Amino acid sequence: MPVKGLNDNAVAASVAELNARLADMIALRLALKQAHWNVKGPNFIGIHELFDVAHGRLAGHEDTIAERVQILGGVALGTLEAVAGAVTVEAYPTDLVADRDHVAAISGRMAALGEKVRGAIETVSDAGDEGTMDIFVGLSRALDKDLWFIESHLGG
Ligand SMILES: [Fe+2]
Repeated sequence: MPVKGLNDNAVAASVAELNARLADMIALRLALKQAHWNVKGPNFIGIHELFDVAHGRLAGHEDTIAERVQILGGVALGTLEAVAGAVTVEAYPTDLVADRDHVAAISGRMAALGEKVRGAIETVSDAGDEGTMDIFVGLSRALDKDLWFIESHLGG
């Protein structure tokens, strides 16, 4: 049963945007674990722990995004196969070691996702779904903050 007051076009736009960004979030979250596990360098412990904290925060937002799909009457697409087919985040390299390299690689992907989420805010707002827009606004703010935490390790 769709959310009361939303027309079919708004629901379709929101479900598509939510699932598209869910795929990107899952990919970025896996990249954060890859970085958490493999990073080495003089700032090891802080960066190692920060990647894991950011991973956990992203997981929380994923749950909100996927459950919003359900609230709208759609099907949340979070399997490995669905994500692999939908992801727009650039593939994360498996040969990175140095903390600066991981910080730069994660930061670039997080910034790219942040831009996509800003686009999602506009798309679902134009479609008339303020409830989904609010979820994306919260996600956007959270990504901005974690990007600040992470990229600050690169210095000025
Ligand atoms: Fe760990």
